[in-house]
Amino acid sequence: MSAEPSRAPGAVDVGTVHSVDEFEALARDRLSEMAYGYFVGGAGDERTVRANVAAWDEHDIWTRALVDVSARTTATQLLGLDLPTPLLVAPTALHQLAHPDGELATIRACNAAGVPMVVSSIASTRLEDICAQATVPVLLQLYIGADRGFTREFLQRAEAAGCAAVELTVDTPIWGTRRREAVTGFHLPDGVDVVNLRHETGGERAAVSGNPSAGGSIGEVLGWTISSNLTWADLEWLCSTTALPVLPKGICRPDDARRAVDAGASGIVVSNHGGRQLDGAPPTARSLPRVVDAVGDAVPVVVDGGIRRGTDVLRALALGARAVQVGRPVLWGLGAAGDAGVHRVLELLVTEFDQAMALSGCAAVDDITADLLTGDHTNR
Ligand code: FNR
Ligand code: LAC
Repeated sequence: MSAEPSRAPGAVDVGTVHSVDEFEALARDRLSEMAYGYFVGGAGDERTVRANVAAWDEHDIWTRALVDVSARTTATQLLGLDLPTPLLVAPTALHQLAHPDGELATIRACNAAGVPMVVSSIASTRLEDICAQATVPVLLQLYIGADRGFTREFLQRAEAAGCAAVELTVDTPIWGTRRREAVTGFHLPDGVDVVNLRHETGGERAAVSGNPSAGGSIGEVLGWTISSNLTWADLEWLCSTTALPVLPKGICRPDDARRAVDAGASGIVVSNHGGRQLDGAPPTARSLPRVVDAVGDAVPVVVDGGIRRGTDVLRALALGARAVQVGRPVLWGLGAAGDAGVHRVLELLVTEFDQAMALSGCAAVDDITADLLTGDHTNR
């Protein structure tokens, strides 16, 4: 992968790592400054990045006493898929910046943990190659560029490869400005590329516009992968074009959530892109309940942003999410120790979630109701 030297190549014994935050420190020591800066960074002053994490912590968990949790289960369903736990890997770009095995390491870990993976359009591994290794559901995250014909072909590839759903990212009409990308000179190292966005014939998608060898920000390097003219008509078009369920990713407002359902969405992903787009966007722990109220039982709501502990998963479900996605934690596991690191991150989150259920008196995910965050039985 990258010719850039890693900073501390010592192997990590993942069994000795006990939290996502510890994995971040280990990854930071092992990744190039450019990769770490790209992964950790957010837009502007990174207020939304910090708020995403902090807002889950604002919710105390009002534990229920004397509940029989001896036969508890973390299992749930999403879009007709049976999930062992309400957790997915969020789409994040360019896993080969974190580890030479890239997305193939991630999918191996997902298989071992039983956690579905949402593959970024900007993955550094072919979608088909990831799907061929997968024993868990794979979802495709979609960016729509200028060439809608290419998008149609890409969707057909996703369908043929067996993808379970499409998440259309709707918070990226332009790229957020992330200072760390400029400081560390974001670029694609030799051998790392957005392979899914090249034509099957080998033709260069980059020819559409932009300069793939430019450096300094994702916008300069990969500006051509998105469009700033997407509207609700494109969501409607997508829903009618693909047989796969479509979930807009990047909704924070109740009115947008309702509109998405009207446009044919099969679910909503409440997200602010991990604070990487508009600094000042609300933390997802605050937008989630409003979106849930707006859509009711019409479609499931998934949330991502700042989930770092199993207790955060419990809080998200108590606020009405069906499932959560984790972005950076997976990159920290991957950067620290490849597939073993990702597996350990997922295992920690699953174990912590199971413990949080037990200790708060929940034997099944349906028991994770709003009163857990208010201590008020009247809203049960
Ligand atoms: C992302 N995210 C993202 N989202 C998306 O729709 N397509 C993408 O290609 C990427 N790429 C990407 C790269 C990196 C390095 C990060 C950190 C994030 C956003 C991602 O899906 C998710 O919304 C957030 O990462 C969730 O927040 P946490 O879990 O990272 O706090
Ligand atoms: C990012 C893109 C790839 O956040 O979504 O960097």
